[in-house]
Amino acid sequence: MLKIGLTGGIGCGKSTVSRLFADLGMPIIDADEISHRLVARGQPALQRIAQVFGSEILLENGELNRAALKARIFDNSQAKQQLEAILHPLVFSSCAEQLRSLTGAYCILSIPLLFETHAESFVDRILVVDCDETTQIARVQRRDNLSLERIQAIIATQVSSTFRKAHAHDIVDNSKNDTTLAEQVKKLHNFYLSLSHC
Ligand SMILES: Nc1ncnc2c1ncn2[C@@H]1O[C@H](COP(=O)(O)OP(=O)(O)OP(=O)(O)O)[C@@H](O)[C@H]1O
Ligand SMILES: [Mg+2]
Repeated sequence: MLKIGLTGGIGCGKSTVSRLFADLGMPIIDADEISHRLVARGQPALQRIAQVFGSEILLENGELNRAALKARIFDNSQAKQQLEAILHPLVFSSCAEQLRSLTGAYCILSIPLLFETHAESFVDRILVVDCDETTQIARVQRRDNLSLERIQAIIATQVSSTFRKAHAHDIVDNSKNDTTLAEQVKKLHNFYLSLSHC
């Protein structure tokens, strides 16, 4: 099965593009969803994180206090690396396990930090969803209600749009409206189907 790695900067439209491929009947593996599930209450990964970062990153009900953990890793690269060392191998083994159960011409692996985690070789092709930075920031502000400074700081921790596009096999431009996006996804869908027949 052809593995398409879908990536892009924060708020560029990865989840939206994933949904469009899912609407076309294609299976989606979502690294973000997997990492959320891994840190659900009582999960071994959450226990490990609490051992490393202390119980203050847990809420009273035992769930992860996301804001507290984010605050701990923001601007602290050592803490961020410790967290990634716990989560990333588990995310990738879960992706691999899901892949084994799939059938079909191709599947989409949505991996927001594909380049940052050096996961290029995990997939056969890299599809980058991109939009201009003004649109990107406006969409994240509307969705997450974050300050401009915070969004810019997150963008600065990710590889640049130029780097992503230079290393992509395929690019979706999500600077415009949803109709244009759906058309681009449909074209790619047909292209990936044709590749899978080779
Ligand atoms: N073409 C579009 N037109 C208008 N709004 C859009 C478009 N594409 C995405 N959005 C909106 O922009 C926001 C970000 O999109 P989305 O959640 O798909 O991005 P993402 O790359 O998955 O973000 P994250 O990196 O946070 O996971 C969402 O609120 C979404 O509804
Ligand atoms: Mg998303």
